[in-house]
Amino acid sequence: MNKSRRDGFGSKFGVFAAVVGSAVGLGNIWRFPYVTGENGGGAFLLIYFISVIIIGIPVVLSEFIIGRRGQGNSYGSFKRLSPKTYWYLVGLMGIFAAFIILAFYSTIAGWTLEYIYLSVKNIFSTTTAGISNPETVFNEFHTSTVMPVVWQLVSILLTAFIIIGGVQKGIEKYSKILMPLLFLILVILAIKAITLPGSIDGLKFLLYPDFSKINSNVVLDALGQAAFSLSIGMGVLITYGSYIKKDNNLLKTALAVSVTDMGIAVLAGIAIFPALFAFGLSPQEGAGLVFIVLPEIFQQMFGGQILSLLFFILLAIAAITSSISLLEVIVAYFSEEFKIKRYIATIIGATISAVLGVFATISFGAWKNVKLFGKTIFDNFDFLATNILLPLGSFFILIFLGWSFDVKQTKDEITNQGKLKSWFFPVFLFIIRFVAPLAIFLVFLKRLAII
Ligand code: PFF
Repeated sequence: MNKSRRDGFGSKFGVFAAVVGSAVGLGNIWRFPYVTGENGGGAFLLIYFISVIIIGIPVVLSEFIIGRRGQGNSYGSFKRLSPKTYWYLVGLMGIFAAFIILAFYSTIAGWTLEYIYLSVKNIFSTTTAGISNPETVFNEFHTSTVMPVVWQLVSILLTAFIIIGGVQKGIEKYSKILMPLLFLILVILAIKAITLPGSIDGLKFLLYPDFSKINSNVVLDALGQAAFSLSIGMGVLITYGSYIKKDNNLLKTALAVSVTDMGIAVLAGIAIFPALFAFGLSPQEGAGLVFIVLPEIFQQMFGGQILSLLFFILLAIAAITSSISLLEVIVAYFSEEFKIKRYIATIIGATISAVLGVFATISFGAWKNVKLFGKTIFDNFDFLATNILLPLGSFFILIFLGWSFDVKQTKDEITNQGKLKSWFFPVFLFIIRFVAPLAIFLVFLKRLAII
């Protein structure tokens, strides 16, 4: 393929919107609040922040460098930058992770679509309080077979539709519209939450660190959450990096995206925890938190119907813009490496993901007793991707760039061939060579109870 004809992002805002679109997703709005709730609130938040700073940002930047320099999908970039070595396996691991994540991600994306429908039907408003119980509604829905699968397929179809449009006319175009909309909705919800009487306890829970809650599981969960939330360790940012123009400042983009991603997670926490505490509910609800507890709150709130509609639209947007980045990893790989048309690659990638996704979806109902290592299929997918593949992928990406790849070329990418300042470069090199990989390594050892 002629390199200059490769599709790519058209504008700087487009790059930002697309990468934030990938980063900001269910991880921020569905996963972050309940994982924070289960791990004791503020202390978890702090470790998550530290993970983003010492591991997350360096990996984001490293992936951009590999992608822009390698000009290919996550496998092809490694192949081009390091021929005759096995580093391409890291790229392949990322493509495998994309399938696994898209599978369980589309389950939840599907739930958000059902909840938009339920909000339109006015299931969650003061008029239905006492008539429809959100816990029963959720349990009946997510353990059934037909509708969750139908919605999941709809979510994959929507994702595929955008991906077929291409990088600029698909991913970039939709991200530029959807991400500002998401931000607006979240701000409205956060303002509503902090103006509730009694909301202060929720803010305290989110922001006040109780260090007695910290143990190795909390640290691994925080690291996993940071990796998941930033979409690192699996080639999304390598693939997107390959679409970024040569004059874009990669360091600035990496910082802007990471800070925005953390900010949105905190904003989601601000929208959710105060409301939770104001209505005397528990933050430890697990995966059902936003699907049970929030509807209960909406039922007691003035304007509940419109707020629930806004919230689930927000969640659906977040889910779709992240799903497209997952499918793009797969589609870029198939279309570039097997030289097939983009729409054919999309159909293949979406079909495989949909089949895997059905297993994840029905593991809440019909297949809830099918277990491996004591976990359901859904939980296995989540654990394997979030706590193992992404941290491991991040580790190898750091080692590749820090130790194996040519330092001069890395510097060229960060400074745009010497046009940008380079004072930051030695710091970056030190972090990707020592600090970040060591941190990931220690977290793993600690988790395996070796130290
Ligand atoms: N970052 C997304 C979120 O926070 O929901 C999830 C995700 C997307 C993870 C893409 C990994 C990925 F490659």
